[in-house]
Amino acid sequence: MAMLGASVIIACRSEKRALEAIARMKSDFQREKEQKTEGATQTDDISVEFMKLDLSSLGSTKELTDQFIDSGRQLNTLICNARIAFHPLEYTEDGNETMFQVNYLSQLLLTFHLLPVMKRSGDDSRVILVSSHGHNFHSTPFTVDKIQGKQHNADNFPRFKYYGNSKLYQILQMYFMNRRLADSNVCVVSTSWIGRHRSNTRISRYFMDDLGLENSKSKSPVEGAECTLNAAINPALKGVRDVYYQDCKPKNTHDDARNKDIQESVLEYSLSRLNDFITDDIRNEWKTK
Ligand SMILES: NC(=O)c1ccc[n+]([C@@H]2O[C@H](COP(=O)([O-])OP(=O)(O)OC[C@H]3O[C@@H](n4cnc5c(N)ncnc54)[C@H](OP(=O)(O)O)[C@@H]3O)[C@@H](O)[C@H]2O)c1
Repeated sequence: MAMLGASVIIACRSEKRALEAIARMKSDFQREKEQKTEGATQTDDISVEFMKLDLSSLGSTKELTDQFIDSGRQLNTLICNARIAFHPLEYTEDGNETMFQVNYLSQLLLTFHLLPVMKRSGDDSRVILVSSHGHNFHSTPFTVDKIQGKQHNADNFPRFKYYGNSKLYQILQMYFMNRRLADSNVCVVSTSWIGRHRSNTRISRYFMDDLGLENSKSKSPVEGAECTLNAAINPALKGVRDVYYQDCKPKNTHDDARNKDIQESVLEYSLSRLNDFITDDIRNEWKTK
């Protein structure tokens, strides 16, 4: 995206690792420029910056949005990609089950606050929620009162299902947001890919085996990112909303993800958990009508 001329912000929790990654990107870019790789010659340098964001803290998430809004910048594309996978039962400083907050709730808070900027940023603004095939493997029957996993303890917490739940919430988010953004320039889509990440840990291997995907082809991080990049920058996808792409192709979402009652109940519950970090305007705009 930076090679195409976008100003890119990496919002993450480790400044050190972000700066190292940015230095690698800049040196890769200069090398590609020398080699005259297609697309690498359009700009002198790439613009990639770090901003601090810890999604396990609603305070940190709100701070990032305040900082971004104060900077007066435009925002055309918001990619919600961060996740924590198969985490044991733990609660954040805000009292939320960790995967619920990191993978979904904080990213929803980010989106709520940044949407007004996106609405003012041209005619093609996109929110990309990077979900997973794992959303199909959520807890069933799904009920909002089990979101925090309080009925479990550390020994019997089904981390795999709760990871699936967190990925389900992102797809529910796509639907409940688009319902309210239909007349706006902001479109929300969701992405995923099938294939083991080469850098994956044993726990992720267990995950792929569990899904019966043990023989699926490994993907490099770049191959894994392809679907999300396509959703973010492909001009042909301008104005497209409510699509879940798997490996760049539209794919059906789970029946529960398309269930409007579940979508709205998760939104209502999420608003209650974000109460101290949102304004009355946000509450009124997003409350169930
Ligand atoms: N890998 C796959 O096979 C696969 C398949 C389908 C979909 N996906 C989806 O693709 C996305 C990226 O997957 P990935 O495999 O690249 O994941 P990953 O290797 O586990 O990386 C996740 C990223 O999230 C960040 N993160 C975790 N907790 C955070 C927090 N509290 N605050 C801010 N950032 C935090 C991590 O930062 P740190 O470096 O600081 O830990 C890391 O950079 C995920 O949403 C995943 O569900 C992955």
